[in-house]
Amino acid sequence: MRFATAARPSTADMLVVRSVEDARREIAAARARGEEIALVPTMGALHAGHLSLVQTACEECDFVAVSIFVNPSQFGPNEDFDKYPRAFEADLQACRECGVNLVFAPDVSTIYPDTFSTFVELEGLSDVLEGRCRPGHFRGVATVVLKLLNIVQPDVSYFGRKDYQQQAIIRRMCRDLDMPGEIRTCDTVRELDGLALSSRNRYLSDDERIAALSLSKCLKLAKQRLTAGETDVELVRREMLALLNKTRGVAVDYATIADPDSLADITAPQLEMIALVAAKVGRARLIDNLPIHLPADR
Ligand code: PAJ
Repeated sequence: MRFATAARPSTADMLVVRSVEDARREIAAARARGEEIALVPTMGALHAGHLSLVQTACEECDFVAVSIFVNPSQFGPNEDFDKYPRAFEADLQACRECGVNLVFAPDVSTIYPDTFSTFVELEGLSDVLEGRCRPGHFRGVATVVLKLLNIVQPDVSYFGRKDYQQQAIIRRMCRDLDMPGEIRTCDTVRELDGLALSSRNRYLSDDERIAALSLSKCLKLAKQRLTAGETDVELVRREMLALLNKTRGVAVDYATIADPDSLADITAPQLEMIALVAAKVGRARLIDNLPIHLPADR
């Protein structure tokens, strides 16, 4: 892990605020100093995947705000909101070590007061893949991200490619609603054996941890087959599913190859594709994806 560069403020300078007013005041002061403002939205329990976004933000921008908010509106009624890992003190320490300037950690009642009644819905992109498996999930994500962007008004916000559909939806929302500010997407951070880092990996037993490797393996398989010249996309899809289905303890939600912009399934190879997978392994629901690029001159 890389730590703060000399240009970052000393770790003691990090502010932790809970109210919108306090966040806005500190950010307005930074903006008045001419600083470029970054926002990294998170739900906490920070791991090296989150921290790669934070570190990139600290390298690229002057003033970095990290939000820590486990957003109830993006969890379904039978999902893990109550059990979602929370590690606030460790998160603050990790942010300090990266050189973060401000942590915004609102209470649920700050983001969703009793009178709250406005939600953001995206048509199309929200209806496939994760949206189909988790109805209402992206409505909650889009709503909270729009609120965080409005509170912080960052010049740049950072999202992970690990949640490919999420960053696609946020990009679309910002374009559709004329939100100012740039969105940067950072690569997925993985364990050495390929498992994508996720807060939910901590739910896995040792055996489930091994079974979970089938997700990244089926993505690599799709990439290998398509870059080696396979033209039958449906066959590759079946091979991905076969790999997952033969792994004990893995219950597949989807495994597919899609267009990276529309996220619609494709029927023939194209220059840019995205392989995506979601599966339950034990009580952890895991997602992963891998961009696939074919050289133009084949
Ligand atoms: P959370 O799951 O905490 O993730 C925060 C950010 O970290 C997201 O942009 C996610 O894509 C990124 N991230 C997670 N694991 C990663 C990995 N292994 N490599 C790279 N980036 C990774 O995503 C959310 O929170 C929420 O939906 C949020 C956007 C904060 C809205 O509530």
